[in-house]
Amino acid sequence: MKVDITTLSDLSKEQIDILFANALEGKKKQKQGILEPKLQGRTVGLVFDKPSTRTRVSFEAAMIQLGGVPMYINTKDTQLIRKEPIEDTARVLSRYLDALVVRTYSQELLNDLARESSIPIVNALTDIYHPCQILSDLLTVIEVKGGYEGVKVAWVGDGNNVAHSWINAASVLGFDLVLACPKEHQPLGWIVEKAQREVKGSIRVISDPKKAVEGADVIYTDVWASMGQESESRVRRTAFQGYTVDQTLVDLAAKDVMVMHCLPAHRGEEISEDVLEGPNSVVWDQAENKMHMHKAILDALIRLWK
Ligand code: CP
Ligand code: NVA
Repeated sequence: MKVDITTLSDLSKEQIDILFANALEGKKKQKQGILEPKLQGRTVGLVFDKPSTRTRVSFEAAMIQLGGVPMYINTKDTQLIRKEPIEDTARVLSRYLDALVVRTYSQELLNDLARESSIPIVNALTDIYHPCQILSDLLTVIEVKGGYEGVKVAWVGDGNNVAHSWINAASVLGFDLVLACPKEHQPLGWIVEKAQREVKGSIRVISDPKKAVEGADVIYTDVWASMGQESESRVRRTAFQGYTVDQTLVDLAAKDVMVMHCLPAHRGEEISEDVLEGPNSVVWDQAENKMHMHKAILDALIRLWK
């Protein structure tokens, strides 16, 4: 049966551990100049209706390095814009392609696409989740810390799509996660409650960033206004005062704390320039690892788990 990644919770701990192992192996080989054309003759469609730099380009590069072909499909250029039913689109694209990577607004639309397609569907970000981001971020945690077990992750900022996928990850993999968010911008209650029922580690939502980062191994932040929330930017800048990841906050965490950001970053808002460019920041390695993880994901979904 095909495997979709509509949320990180679609995967078991065992499957995620396989992705980590394969991504690390692929990265090692690539650094030695070895590229294996495991997906020769295969095609992945990248259906995007939000902007993207990293996710789009790293999925395209991943597919090319695997010997396959990525096909970028701007939703505006398809009949979806003229209301062709998602079911019809899913059935037709399933006849041409080996997998679809989709970035869109509605998680429901993505779920419908997964249900109606006979090929794997990968969530490349919706308003609710960003699962591939956290899979590649955890790859960076594994490289730096040697594993994710026993790691304490502190999220500082908006309880958004990226935060939701961290919650799913903590629940499936069992590490400790604490999220510091302003009261009116906390993660969705049902996502937190479901994860807390299933979690092997611990998941807490608080509002004090200083408390959250105490003893943290990872501090993670993201923009205060996500794609689609641009009109709220000014109001949000006020709501998030005190939530900037700056050096004062970083000094409260473990000395070797990893500072992470999925990017794009707004220097001086959710993160200060000196912290983003400072010795604890791993953001550029983190961005690189998206490509290595995406190679592992495409290979698993198109070839290994079919
Ligand atoms: N981190 C991330 O998803 O970046 P893009 O929006 O550039 O793809
Ligand atoms: N939360 C951000 C993540 C960007 C990668 C957004 O949805 O815009």
